[in-house]
Amino acid sequence: MELLARARQLESEGRSIIHMEVGEPDFPTPDPIVEAGRQALMEDHTHYTPAMGITELREAIAGHYATRFGCRVDPQQVVVTPGSSGALQLVMGVLVNPGEAVLMADPGYPCNRHFVYLAGGDPVTVPVGPATQYQLTAELVEKAWTPNTKAVMLATPSNPTGTLVSRQAMEEIHEVVKSRNGVLIIDEIYQGLVYGGEEFTAASIADDIFVINSFSKYFGMTGWRLGWMIAPREMVAAVDKLAQNIFLSPPTPSQHAALAAFTEETQQILESRREAFRARRDFLLPKLQELGFEMATEPQGAFYLYANCSSLTGDSFDFAMRLLEEEGGAITPGKDFGSNRPEQHVRFAYTTDISKLEEGVKRIARFLGRS
Ligand SMILES: Cc1ncc(COP(=O)(O)O)c(C=O)c1O
Repeated sequence: MELLARARQLESEGRSIIHMEVGEPDFPTPDPIVEAGRQALMEDHTHYTPAMGITELREAIAGHYATRFGCRVDPQQVVVTPGSSGALQLVMGVLVNPGEAVLMADPGYPCNRHFVYLAGGDPVTVPVGPATQYQLTAELVEKAWTPNTKAVMLATPSNPTGTLVSRQAMEEIHEVVKSRNGVLIIDEIYQGLVYGGEEFTAASIADDIFVINSFSKYFGMTGWRLGWMIAPREMVAAVDKLAQNIFLSPPTPSQHAALAAFTEETQQILESRREAFRARRDFLLPKLQELGFEMATEPQGAFYLYANCSSLTGDSFDFAMRLLEEEGGAITPGKDFGSNRPEQHVRFAYTTDISKLEEGVKRIARFLGRS
């Protein structure tokens, strides 16, 4: 946040900044969705809806799993939420009692820890690295499990690392969690933004998994604040009750807009954007490697590259700050994502077009004295 604030300040002073720190797509919301949103406002869809969302959208989401993954999801188990942030808050709220632990990978999405704290729980971060593609494994989960552990959370693709969990690894983790009467939570909010490896959903593995998703990233709807979860059948009533209390309903115009997210026309737009993200990754990854940033595995999803920069600096925060001040290049230091060797890592987001990434690479090269 400190770095972002400084980047904004420099920009307002007229400095040119290349943004490689932004965690949201640079593309606007696809036109058909915007048009459906406009229509919703004209038709006065501006009142509360049921707390779990409108039936048409819950059905459309279930239909999306059938079309995309050949996976049957009961619309009754689909809960529409204010962003996946709303879903994460609900999940922790219904699952975690004070003193209970939730295991998660470090590095990871920083807010996850805070959702656990909010429920009075104890986030337990497990250091992960290139040997496991920066993801938890069944073995790591087994080792970290204690009698207090209630749940395990994975994100695939992950923020900040862009790496995936394979189906086999997820099945193994699910087995371990189930055998200990715990609950598995899978964050699939970057689903759709995958450039290799097998695309699948945790919903096709078991129906006792909480599957979290969002309209923010693949669908390009960050500001509409809309996400969803698939909740295990026996947890739906509790989730509904909590949603009624803390949100009343997800945003109504956004729900109507999102009905246009699964049409053929929108899917074509989104798939062409996926190709654009892939091209950016394919450009940026080797350029950064040439400059000395290390990525042991090729990240296959989201729009992030999480790089080891220890051959270039001993302090990634200072490195990012100096890159910003001296060359106007904005990247995120590892410190944002946990306490597992953060000083050796930085995150690059390819949420800007290739010409800007080219300029960003030039600036980093100049900063490193390579040009
Ligand atoms: C891994 C992960 N989970 C959840 C979120 C929350 O997103 P939203 O509330 O917009 O769906 C983000 C946002 O960056 C994220 O990176």
